[in-house]
Amino acid sequence: MAKPAELKHLAIIMDGNGRWASNQNLPRIEGHKRGAQATIDIINYCHDLGVKELSIFGLSTENTSRPSLEVSFIQDLVKQSCQNNQENFQKKGIRVRIIGTEDGLDKVEGLRRVKNAVESLTQHNQIMRLNILFNYSGRWEIENLLSSLQNKAIKNPTELIQSTLMQGMSYEPDLCIRTGGEMRLSNFMLWQLAYTELYFTNVLWPDFGRKDLDDAIKDFYRRKRRFGQIES
Ligand code: FPP
Repeated sequence: MAKPAELKHLAIIMDGNGRWASNQNLPRIEGHKRGAQATIDIINYCHDLGVKELSIFGLSTENTSRPSLEVSFIQDLVKQSCQNNQENFQKKGIRVRIIGTEDGLDKVEGLRRVKNAVESLTQHNQIMRLNILFNYSGRWEIENLLSSLQNKAIKNPTELIQSTLMQGMSYEPDLCIRTGGEMRLSNFMLWQLAYTELYFTNVLWPDFGRKDLDDAIKDFYRRKRRFGQIES
């Protein structure tokens, strides 16, 4: 049976920062800086639109093999963005979580402290959840689950997989947007995206604005979601 589309959880793969910078003859890190500004604006806009949960791909496990200066720049940017916006998140009732492997958190001065601070400050907020997937990959998440299960008796595997891989999220994503023109998932939320509607746009992330999000959402509301069933 088809269900009317309802957008509770939006996921975004923010791609194209590097190309945006090259197009302007700027170093790649300038693209990430502009990308972080675009991210904050889109977080605020999602809050205004009443989106209940937003998951964004801040840094993939594979991205950490880029030149170390670029990686530490992105890590620092995420830290600064969380630090500078924590009061804004708190005021708006946004609960922030940074999800991913903790390996490497201590390589950036103050990153663990900022993560703990923003998560703890906002932990009781209920208007919107913001999940920043950081040092994260979908395969890492599944491998992590399997290694945590060794030698454990499993009574209800479905329930266990659901509760572990959902990482405390409230809903599976309804819509996943990828900017930057590539049409792939790049190891993002592999389990959670099983029935998510996908939307790809050529717009590079630093240029992705409120109007672009409106377009994606309009497209989403034209879709019929069947979750593997047939229309009745
Ligand atoms: C992909 O562009 C983008 C990233 C690897 C980093 C994304 C991170 C941010 C936008 C900052 C996040 C900020 C907050 C507030 C959480 P790319 O470098 O792969 O672009 P390219 O494909 O054009 O090279």
